[in-house]
Amino acid sequence: MTIGAIIVAAGSGERLGAGRSKALVDLHGRPIVDWSLSTFADHPGVEVIVVVAPSDAVDELTAGAAGRALVVPGGATRQDSVQAGLSALPAQVSHVLVHDAARPLVPPEVISSVIAALHAGLDAVIPVLPVIDTIKRVDANGVVQATVDRASLRTVQTPQGFRRDVLVAAHRCGHERERSTITDDAGLVEAIGRVVQTVPGSELAFKITTPHDLQLAYRLAGPWAYGAEPTQPRTGGLS
Ligand code: CTP
Ligand code: MG
Repeated sequence: MTIGAIIVAAGSGERLGAGRSKALVDLHGRPIVDWSLSTFADHPGVEVIVVVAPSDAVDELTAGAAGRALVVPGGATRQDSVQAGLSALPAQVSHVLVHDAARPLVPPEVISSVIAALHAGLDAVIPVLPVIDTIKRVDANGVVQATVDRASLRTVQTPQGFRRDVLVAAHRCGHERERSTITDDAGLVEAIGRVVQTVPGSELAFKITTPHDLQLAYRLAGPWAYGAEPTQPRTGGLS
């Protein structure tokens, strides 16, 4: 088994509104993408890394990767960017981890859990957390229609791990059918009828989407940036 990681960093970061690509925004002196690149590069289970960059930042990120990753240009959608990463992976890669650069503080333990499940023979593995808020379904006027039972609901994180041939088949199918409502790779794999297994995620693997999320990452990563251990928030405890 040879594991390759694809770190998708080619989004524009509109909701963050930083005026530049989200993956290049500074987090304690390093671009956001560099945080997860280091975590994957230091992980003994990961053998090759591809960073998918905004097309105007390929040179900058290639310099920043300093030999730790191949850097290729991304596409208009996240799905296009994952496909660009998949095409760039060397032939010997049998299993793929797809990770959002926008989740810079993902702990190595989450990567290890996903890899362990792939080693156990699973085709598709995703880290998840239980839903802790009360969830309501509302109509177009904001009137509550129902309170949803959250016991079986999970929020989904990355890295998502796959057998390479399964992910390639799922993307081919997704491309043909224009599955625009599917926002993650596991969704494409579900759509071709394959089993997707969950493993416990971590609150540290949250995605930076809004300015509030960037503030949170800045505060959580502060001690880390200066050599201390990060405080470990709640983990999933579910699978
Ligand atoms: N991504 C990508 N290529 C795209 C769109 C997204 O590589 N065409 C990546 C982003 O860089 C990010 C991850 O997919 O690491 C998750 O996407 P999201 O959080 O939506 O990031 P953005 O698309 O950059 O943000 P926004 O939707 O607010 O513009
Ligand atoms: Mg987006």
